[in-house]
Amino acid sequence: MMQYQRQVSIRKIFSPIKINKLEIKNRILMPAMHMNYTGSKGEINDKFTAFYEERAKGGCGLIIIGGANFTKTSGCMPNMVNMMMEENIPNIEHFADVMHKAGATCAIQLLHAGRYGYWGQPYAPSPVKSGIKTGATDLPQELTIEQIQEIIEDYAQAALIMKNAGIDACEICGNTGYLPAQFISKFTNRRTDKYGGKEITDRMTFNIELLQRMREVVGPDYPIIYRMPADDLLPDSTTYKDYAIIAPYLVEAGADMLHCAGGFHESRVPQLTMGVPHGFSAVLAGYIKKAVSVPVALSHRIHDVETMEHILIAGLVDMIGMGRPLICDPDLPNKLEAGQLDEIRWCVACNNCFDCVFQAQPVACFQNVRAGKELKYNITPSKSPKKVIVIGGGPGGMEAARVLKLRGHEVILFEKENYLGGELFMAGRPPGREELMRAVNYLINQMVKLKVDVRMNTEATVETILDENPDAVVMATGSSPIIPPIPGIDGKNVVRAEDVLLDKVDVGDEIVVIGGGATGTETALYLARLNTLPAESAMYLVQHEVIPFEDAFEKWRYGKKITVLDMLPKFGSNIGQTTRWTILQDLAYRGVKLIPNATVEEITESEVKYSVGDERKSIPCDTVVVAVGVKPNNALYEELKDKIKDVRLIGDAKSPRKGIEALEEGFKAALRIE
Ligand SMILES: Cc1cc2nc3c(=O)[nH]c(=O)nc-3n(C[C@H](O)[C@H](O)[C@H](O)COP(=O)(O)OP(=O)(O)OC[C@H]3O[C@@H](n4cnc5c(N)ncnc54)[C@H](O)[C@@H]3O)c2cc1C
Ligand SMILES: Cc1cc2nc3c(=O)[nH]c(=O)nc-3n(C[C@H](O)[C@H](O)[C@H](O)COP(=O)(O)O)c2cc1C
Ligand code: SF4
Repeated sequence: MMQYQRQVSIRKIFSPIKINKLEIKNRILMPAMHMNYTGSKGEINDKFTAFYEERAKGGCGLIIIGGANFTKTSGCMPNMVNMMMEENIPNIEHFADVMHKAGATCAIQLLHAGRYGYWGQPYAPSPVKSGIKTGATDLPQELTIEQIQEIIEDYAQAALIMKNAGIDACEICGNTGYLPAQFISKFTNRRTDKYGGKEITDRMTFNIELLQRMREVVGPDYPIIYRMPADDLLPDSTTYKDYAIIAPYLVEAGADMLHCAGGFHESRVPQLTMGVPHGFSAVLAGYIKKAVSVPVALSHRIHDVETMEHILIAGLVDMIGMGRPLICDPDLPNKLEAGQLDEIRWCVACNNCFDCVFQAQPVACFQNVRAGKELKYNITPSKSPKKVIVIGGGPGGMEAARVLKLRGHEVILFEKENYLGGELFMAGRPPGREELMRAVNYLINQMVKLKVDVRMNTEATVETILDENPDAVVMATGSSPIIPPIPGIDGKNVVRAEDVLLDKVDVGDEIVVIGGGATGTETALYLARLNTLPAESAMYLVQHEVIPFEDAFEKWRYGKKITVLDMLPKFGSNIGQTTRWTILQDLAYRGVKLIPNATVEEITESEVKYSVGDERKSIPCDTVVVAVGVKPNNALYEELKDKIKDVRLIGDAKSPRKGIEALEEGFKAALRIE
């Protein structure tokens, strides 16, 4: 029955592979991710090990942890896995043991951040200012020859420590513009000594000496993985063609697998957000694969089974790295192998996890509340199953219903609209944000599978709830838009962002959006793309010479004329840090005008009047979209809370925030209803 669900071949994903002498049971690896679960000095602890144990049990072939701190100039945060502390060695040994018992192999990634140093003074091949400020200063100090040699020796000794501790392989973090990539790049390496030079092969000295010394110390059989960009994605830096040239040198010097990942941190090419196409860099990695005879792996946005299998079958690479997908669903490999495709909770690349790292917080997943809390939360059967009513079919309500039902409760879910997903359904409408619908669809699918009694088009009232005589109620009624008291706000030309995103209203060609938070900017993106030419059609029309390329490109890029006004100086301030810049970049590319510090004073039939400081201005427009925020929808809760013993208010109905809080509160409410 389950096999019947399998719609794509998974022949290749579950075939074994060898890195040097290490046999790995399948082609799935979990790349290194600093999760902030370790102790304050980088100790591997129970929380950390439990997180990875679940992924190992879930069927992942190779789990790579880190990046790990191994040398004093690394610039690592103090809580990154610590290879320098004797007391951590038994923890590393225990970790390896747990991974092996759970059926996985494991590796540790060694990270030297170079000019991206997160902690203290950064050190780099040359004092080239970092494009992003990650630590104390963006200006690195040039490494001396002695310091370089010390780093190389520390890499090698750290690899030996992990070998002796039972870790199956070691990885060098040469990706994302960290130290090894900084030595290779002509942009960041301006040295004139033996570690620099005009030719790319001159700038390989550091990497070659490093791999050779590591090989010398760990012996011929111990697998060394070299993680590298497929392309730096940075002007004047190393391209995929350059990497194809240098790849054989890396292998000759000692690398047993090349693991392609992202370009430099400061690249303006988005690589992690949900607008990035699945498997976008596979073709680039394919050039590297062609240049070497050792296995090549690739990670970054390989977030569906079709892309995974296609990349492997096409022979572009040999292993697939899945980072965030395994945070989101630890059992992904097992579900895939069992053909339970619609049971997989796919990562939606919302980057909440990545934002956590930049805020020095333990990684939390938007969808998987248990990630990092495996020892804290378990979905156990209820000892006395109850009748529970959930009001609202947004993410909070559906997550509560899912967990309640898994625990054996009887669950009725009321949803007043004719669709499920609540605000998240709207959030998934703008171009590049569609993947949010995967989160909604997973939950809808669970409602069906678990046979939750979902009553659509049914607005819950005090009477309907009391009629059901429930033991408990979870109130997940979300929020409603704020309508600001601006003269003209009731005009026919004024619409709400929510109605635009749901296509409930018609809009003109010149539009002003009032409010530049997530809803305003993303609605602007939706509108800007509303009447553009889809890429596939554009290519088709160009191929058949119906439209010249320039015209097709213009029609693909630009649509309606949009201006966004906000009282604040900053747009999209409630969008996560690692996503926000991509949305602002996209808005600029599509010609959307953003006017900050603007107070709207009046809306007329044909214009919006506003002021910036003392200056009064106006913009002609035919439609005005209001997106100035929302308020909690909690009136029903207030009416009901004294009439039923157990009423729990969750998500935006409690206080408007984001989907992650709604899901977490839904999950917790469901665990707490005994
Ligand atoms: C454009 C946009 C982009 C966003 N982007 C993101 C993002 O990238 N990441 C993120 O985490 N969050 C994002 N959010 C916010 C996120 O969607 C919300 O925080 C989340 O949906 C709140 O979930 P909830 O379940 O609490 O409420 P909602 O999603 O609002 O769901 C409430 C549900 O209750 C129903 N309801 C209300 N009253 C009743 C009643 N009496 N009877 C029956 N049903 C009722 C409503 O119809 C609705 O379906 C975005 C929101 C918008 C609008
Ligand atoms: C929370 C988080 C922490 C990360 N930390 C590291 C790291 O320490 N070293 C590294 O090489 N890559 C790191 N990455 C990048 C991932 O290894 C991976 O390349 C990236 O998430 C893209 O793959 P994915 O789309 O499968 O998630 C991190 C990513 C995330 C989300
Ligand atoms: S937080 Fe978002 S990006 Fe990170 S794993 Fe979860 S769903 Fe994926």
